[in-house]
Formats: sequence, structure tokens, C-alpha cells
Amino acid sequence: MRVVQDRASLAEARDALTGRVAVVMTMGALHEGHASLLAAARAAADAVICTIFVNPLQFGPNEDLDRYPRSLDADLAVCERHGVDVVFTPTEDVIYPYGQPQIRVNPGSLGETLEGASRPGFFHGVLTVVLKLLHLTRPDIAYFGEKDYQQISLVRRMVRDLDVPTEIVAAPTIREADGLALSSRNRYLSPEERAAALTLSRALFAGQEAASEGPAKAAQAAQDVIDAEPRVRPDYLVLTGTDLGPAPQRGEARLLVAARMGRTRLIDNVRVTLRSSEGLNPDEGRDPTSGWSPARS
Ligand code: PAF
Repeated sequence: MRVVQDRASLAEARDALTGRVAVVMTMGALHEGHASLLAAARAAADAVICTIFVNPLQFGPNEDLDRYPRSLDADLAVCERHGVDVVFTPTEDVIYPYGQPQIRVNPGSLGETLEGASRPGFFHGVLTVVLKLLHLTRPDIAYFGEKDYQQISLVRRMVRDLDVPTEIVAAPTIREADGLALSSRNRYLSPEERAAALTLSRALFAGQEAASEGPAKAAQAAQDVIDAEPRVRPDYLVLTGTDLGPAPQRGEARLLVAARMGRTRLIDNVRVTLRSSEGLNPDEGRDPTSGWSPARS
């Protein structure tokens, strides 16, 4: 495994890789969620690059950039165990040699909702560094976790809209045995906050369970769980379409939550399958030529 810090060494290491190359981008503090991305990349590609860079551009002024966990030695051991070929651990000067970039990727309106509404400029910072790392590592395929559902949705759009020749693959969220989604920020939680944080996955699972009764019941079931835990301060709890637009009445949807426990902010989401016709728009599914509507029949 080669560990490289500067652009020239990365370019040289990248040129030496043959076949299909995968990249897993991280901010370090690697946990089993990252390990699952590395394992998926290893299984699918001939060579794997892991990037470890805490990107200052995606942290707001009152966020946790300074206290964000850093554990390079342990991270390198995880990479080694998962057969990573090249680890890129640049400093800020390597990624932003001209200082904070004037030109950033604009995530569009999807970047202003949910995480973007709570963390202004966040997705400009994420997409800018992801695009730079895609240019620097030149992968055929890139793996992102579904826990950051809005992030992977935006990365997919960026790659499509800006003609980046990389396949984007989503990997499922990895959870603790009790349901808590793995996150580098979980290590900030006190035991009491850890117990409260479990409310997030419980709420999402409650929404999933109630999805057979329709979207309103699903959203309410999740909300009831959140409301019952005063130590959790939610930023949002929403049911959306899989494209993060309005939720459909039936079919595949996404339930997403963000909340604070003490000083720590966590996010989570699950896939939801809405089954009933509760609240169905009377015109939905109607054949305009026949006048027949499933909701009225
Ligand atoms: O998901 C993350 O860890 C980061 O947002 C990413 C994709 C590595 C960009 O800094």
C-alpha cells in the first residue's frame, strides 16, 4: 500500500494502477461503514484508492472542523486490512494551493434544502472537493455511503451534469446492533446522548413500519418517536421521494432525519415503501380518455 500526500506522488501512483480503479473518499476517522465501502470497492475493481482529507470548505463557522476526529494511524491500518492500493492524505495546501477557491460547484436548488438549509454552503464545499478528488484520482468507479443520502444524490447529479466519466455507486448504511447508524461523529456522544441518539433510527424504523398505511401515517409514526424524546432536538424529519422531491402517495420514498443531541448533530435516513392509497390524489392514475380513476372505483 502506498501512502501519498502530494499531487505528483498521487499522479505517479495512479499511473501505476492498471485495470478498473475505484475510489473511496473519506474524512478519516474510519469505521465499519467506511470499511464496507472499501470492501465493496475491493470486490468490484482491480485497484482501490482511498482519500483521507478533512475538507474545511464543508464546515460552517460554528461547526466542528477543529474537533473533527483525526486518527491517521488507525485509518491506515483499516486501509491496509482492506487491500487498498493507494491512500491519498493531502494537507489543505495540497487541495487548495491558491487558498479558498473562488469558483465552487453550485449544487443548485437541491443543495439548499435539508442539510443545505441547516448548513449553508455545505454542499458547495462537498461537491467542490469531490470534483477535485475525482480529477486527481481519475477513478472508473466511486463509492459513497447511503447514510449521506442527499450527498450521494447531489454527487450523482454533478457527475451527470458535468460529464464526469465516473460511475457512482451507493453502499447501504451500516448500523450498530441496536440500530444507530455508524458515523465518525458518534464518538462525540456521551453515554446519555448515545442513548438519545438511538431515537433517530427508532423513528425511521417506526416510519418504515407504518408505511403500509400511507405517507401521512408513516411520517406521523416517525414524528411521534422523535417527540417522545426531549433530549433530541430535530432539525428536520421528512418523507420525500427517492429524488428528494415531494413524497409519492405510493411506492418508493425516503424518510430522512437530522437532529442534535447536546453539541453533536447526526443524520440518518431509510428507504420506505408506501403501499396504501391513503390521501391518493383523485386524478392520480386516471386514464384521461376513459374517465376511470382507481381512487374512485
Ligand atoms: O462523506 C464524506 O466523508 C465527505 O463529505 C466527503 C465525500 C469525503 C467529501 O469531503
